[in-house]
Amino acid sequence: MKYNILSIQSSVVDEVFDIAQEALVPRWSKKDYRYFLSQSAGFCLGVFVENELVAFFLSLMSQKEMDIVAIACASTQRRKGLAFQLLTEALKRSRAEKATLEVDPANEAAVKLYLKAGFLVKGLRKKYYEGKKDAWTMAWEATDASKSKSEFLG
Ligand SMILES: CC(C)(COP(=O)(O)OP(=O)(O)OC[C@H]1O[C@@H](n2cnc3c(N)ncnc32)[C@H](O)[C@@H]1OP(=O)(O)O)[C@@H](O)C(=O)NCCC(=O)NCCS
Repeated sequence: MKYNILSIQSSVVDEVFDIAQEALVPRWSKKDYRYFLSQSAGFCLGVFVENELVAFFLSLMSQKEMDIVAIACASTQRRKGLAFQLLTEALKRSRAEKATLEVDPANEAAVKLYLKAGFLVKGLRKKYYEGKKDAWTMAWEATDASKSKSEFLG
């Protein structure tokens, strides 16, 4: 399948919101997504198939540390490796040295995706979701080899 991974901004908020509505527990309004997509500290990428957004990745960068906020793929496009490509591209293009996230331990697809990308479970955040459900914190660190490569690239 041919696809492009591109930086996204608030111009695609409608498409992001459509995917979020079918893929994620509704925590954010469209206004929240618009705000996030226009933040200067945001690092946001989308996967486009024939110019249509089919998956998105949202994160915040602080120095070389990435805080991953969400990743979602349209239900019709899952299990094709798109989220994995998106996540690994985001880690590479951002030149992050560390990345952290919270995930619902019951979300098998997401947990396995993050483990496949090299994240490790670091701890538990009690009552993280809606003050009720616990979350796992997971973290990733760039290897020395990938760090020196990105320094070499400038
Ligand atoms: C999690 C999600 C983004 C994965 O997207 P995807 O494009 O289908 O994932 P990929 O095809 O790239 O899969 C990469 C790896 O993730 C794991 N994985 C993905 N979907 C899985 C599933 N349904 N069951 C078990 N493992 C799964 C596998 O390890 C897979 O590697 P493999 O194909 O070699 O086995 C997608 O299921 C989704 O949008 N879910 C709803 C939103 C969500 O929960 N996001 C995470 C929290 S913000």
